[in-house]
Amino acid sequence: MKKVCVIYWSGTGNTQSMAEALAEGAKSKGASVKLLNVSDAVKEDVLEAEVIALGCPSMGSENLEESEMEPFVEELEGEDLSGKHFVLFGSYDWGDGQWMQEWEERMTNKGVKLVESGLIVQNTPEEDELEKYKTLGNKLATI
Ligand SMILES: Cc1cc2nc3c(=O)[nH]c(=O)nc-3n(C[C@H](O)[C@H](O)[C@H](O)COP(=O)(O)O)c2cc1C
Repeated sequence: MKKVCVIYWSGTGNTQSMAEALAEGAKSKGASVKLLNVSDAVKEDVLEAEVIALGCPSMGSENLEESEMEPFVEELEGEDLSGKHFVLFGSYDWGDGQWMQEWEERMTNKGVKLVESGLIVQNTPEEDELEKYKTLGNKLATI
């Protein structure tokens, strides 16, 4: 059974709904799924998983949320993540997705394999967008 871990930070629920769709999609294909708010996550949740999905909206000025997600990502950067499958996702509003490009670069520099890139949604995801995240969750369960 594939071990999938979905960890997110979300202030107003947009990134959370993407996280829930991914987790639901992976579960429905038989994966063992942990869905955690980053405030409840520890680095071991990531280290013991085979596939990791991290979600965070664009905050600050094209940054990760600074009090919980940024420190968590920095902690992960101190670990050996090479070869693990990752998905990064999140919601934004007025920007051009710069925060996600920079986040993807940080993680690929650690040797992770991004299953897909550019997984961003402006503001609240529509039903069809959530369906896409469920389908991606299906894929994570069988990767
Ligand atoms: C303090 C703050 C800073 C933000 N900074 C950006 C930004 O730099 N670029 C952007 O595109 N959106 C920015 N946003 C908009 C959020 O990314 C957007 O509202 C997103 O949908 C929030 O996702 P969530 O519901 O998961 O918290 C910011 C929002 C807040 C509250």
